Amino acid sequence: MVDPTVLGEVGELTTSESISGVTVETAVPELPDAEPLVSGLEDITERIVDDFVAAVPGAESIDVEWSLTAVSTEVVGIRLHTVEKDSDGERSAFETLWYDAVSGNTADSTELIGNYAALERLASLVAEEATSQEGDEGANPDLVWPIARTFDSLGFNSEGDLVAEFDEGLVATPDAGRIHAVIDRADAEPLLSDLGRRAMDAATDPPQTVDIAQPPEEPADLREAPGMIPPADDALDCAGEDIDCLALTFDDGPGERTGELLDMLNEYDAKATFFVTGGPADNDHEALRRIYAEGHELGNHTMTHPQLPSLSDSGVVDETEPLQAIIRRETGYTPHIMRPPYGASNAAVQSMMADAGMAEIMWSVDTLDWKDKDASVVSERAISGAHPGGIILFHDIHSTTIDAMPDTLEALDEDYTLVTVTQLLGDTEPGEVYESDDDA
Ligand code: NI
Repeated sequence: MVDPTVLGEVGELTTSESISGVTVETAVPELPDAEPLVSGLEDITERIVDDFVAAVPGAESIDVEWSLTAVSTEVVGIRLHTVEKDSDGERSAFETLWYDAVSGNTADSTELIGNYAALERLASLVAEEATSQEGDEGANPDLVWPIARTFDSLGFNSEGDLVAEFDEGLVATPDAGRIHAVIDRADAEPLLSDLGRRAMDAATDPPQTVDIAQPPEEPADLREAPGMIPPADDALDCAGEDIDCLALTFDDGPGERTGELLDMLNEYDAKATFFVTGGPADNDHEALRRIYAEGHELGNHTMTHPQLPSLSDSGVVDETEPLQAIIRRETGYTPHIMRPPYGASNAAVQSMMADAGMAEIMWSVDTLDWKDKDASVVSERAISGAHPGGIILFHDIHSTTIDAMPDTLEALDEDYTLVTVTQLLGDTEPGEVYESDDDA
């Protein structure tokens, strides 16, 4: 931690309010020379608060404070410390943001890393070296996914070693508490981006006083952080002539055997889309992170699976917004597609989804796997219904659906490239309904 007085007098912008009955206290530094950083921190703090209020039913209070982790004329590292209190007790979380005065951008921690392959390498080093605060229980290597949410608090010690800290329960059992890993400078340095190298210099060579450089008039284009996994793949063109794409979609989960399904999808290098529901999603945060980290797409299937057209506008918001917040808190990703339960929608729901930034995705092949709990029937329906550009509906909460997958995947993999909905459809328009196509 660095004493902020190296920057001269540093004021604070604080808020103290009540949002939906939740007590909210926040503070960010007031840095006139780094205005883009201050507004970036305000946005991020607001997102942290709003997502907590939306996602956690027993939310009582949230407090966000800041400290300075490193500073030079070119970079400023700010570590946000969040204390959330709900009916289950109190939790701390940390997130470190890096301001780059050269580009004028406020970056996620994974932007210290050069690219996705380097982040994967970092994840494997952490899986080997993570140690707990208590020193008795380390990280579970299977949970150290190379995504922005996992690596959201990166910094350097004064030796230039890379320090990764992980919130409670993120990469180990909650009993292990907060975990951190220290990666030797020699191993870390080749993994860093230009910003990462400047951040390391700031930590190893702390100045007595600092004047932060003025940002450019227009911030440079921010590259996508290596830990943000896009739901589409630029190298894959489903609209082209060369390949027949098919999207498998799984609703109502994650279920008890979703992990087995993910293993099978990996075997075929197949991507799928998971329209998750509130209860199961909130019960299995690891499944959400794994689905996302392995390149599948997450979509919103509402909190409690109601008929949306029967609800008021605020009822529709209450069914969709908390699930967006749950998914964002666990993965850093905000879904831009949803599937209305029972496929039931109307003009009012469509207009609400336009505001929520989500397209509605229907299907062209219904396996009726919820009705006919027979693996061979489900598999046969999927295989005979499959067609180029098709979207197949399954539910990964039924054991018989998981049992149907070996035969289904083996057959479909012969004729199709199995892709996410966004890979299949390209960019979708919020509020539009993508219907089953008539060729089915
Ligand atoms: Ni459903």
